[in-house]
Amino acid sequence: MTSYMHLHPSAVDYIELDAGERVQWLKRPRWIGYPRAQEVMGKLEDLLRHPREARMPNMLLIGGTNNGKTRLIRNFAQRHPAEENPGGEHIFAPVLYTQAPPAPSESGFYSEILNTLFEKVPTSSADAKRARVIQVLRGIQLKVLIVDELHNILAGASVKQQQFLNMIKYLSNELQISIVGCGTGDLLRAVSIDPQIQNRFVPELLPRWQMNKEFRQLLMSFERILPLRNPSELHEPQLAGKLLAMCEGTIGELSTLLNMAATYAIQQGHEQISADVLNACGYLPPSDRTRQAARA
Ligand SMILES: Nc1ncnc2c1ncn2[C@@H]1O[C@H](COP(=O)(O)OP(=O)(O)OP(=O)(O)O)[C@@H](O)[C@H]1O
Ligand SMILES: [Mg+2]
Repeated sequence: MTSYMHLHPSAVDYIELDAGERVQWLKRPRWIGYPRAQEVMGKLEDLLRHPREARMPNMLLIGGTNNGKTRLIRNFAQRHPAEENPGGEHIFAPVLYTQAPPAPSESGFYSEILNTLFEKVPTSSADAKRARVIQVLRGIQLKVLIVDELHNILAGASVKQQQFLNMIKYLSNELQISIVGCGTGDLLRAVSIDPQIQNRFVPELLPRWQMNKEFRQLLMSFERILPLRNPSELHEPQLAGKLLAMCEGTIGELSTLLNMAATYAIQQGHEQISADVLNACGYLPPSDRTRQAARA
């Protein structure tokens, strides 16, 4: 009998499936709680537990594109879903996930929040929308408001950016809630302009992956959930180095690369990922794609 010791128990169930089904299984979203993600998750839980006070702690989750910000913050939000509130007019929702509008528009943000909660959006002024947002967020007893893609505000003039950040500060003060803004490094620059904003938002970074113990552990975690019948030993120095160079240090690219390699390994009957499989699976590193686009 074959041993599937290299696999996580949930992957073992899938290992007996045929090739097509295993390729489908690879496409399912997955969550790996790597140490930095767990650490940030702990700080998010602290925000949720923080007693309401005049000056609430806020967070900026900062990282390059495709490096796990949305995945992490959505995972946090899913751990704290809305609940029925039999006595009240509103549901009870301690955590709310929203995205910043494409440009720094106060009114656009209020509509986004109300839409997320399936509330009617007042058609009148921004003031009316703000009043409704305050009322509704108080009603659901919100504790943590997540604003993903907050770097979108950089698409506006600097005055508009600061206005948007002031509005967020206002919501935090008025409702005594913590705000978690997520975005790329550029966001830090915009936030650092106003000391009042800067000292209220603690940056937490999701840095690019480098060759170290954490990266090799991440590879082991991925390997345990890939439905391949033979071990690949992804964490071995040569293979790990090649994977890091190809994915250029983001977990999103690594995930895509491993899926393409695993698909190829399943379809070709290799049942393991090797350097040859990585070369042959059709994956192009991000900077090669950029170069190709520039030539086109
Ligand atoms: N903890 C994780 N476990 C497994 N896969 C992950 C994890 N975090 C991220 N990924 C993979 O990386 C991809 C990109 O992650 P995510 O969408 O969170 O990036 P992002 O930092 O929000 O990027 P952007 O700034 O472009 O929005 C995900 O679609 C998923 O495949
Ligand atoms: Mg994102």
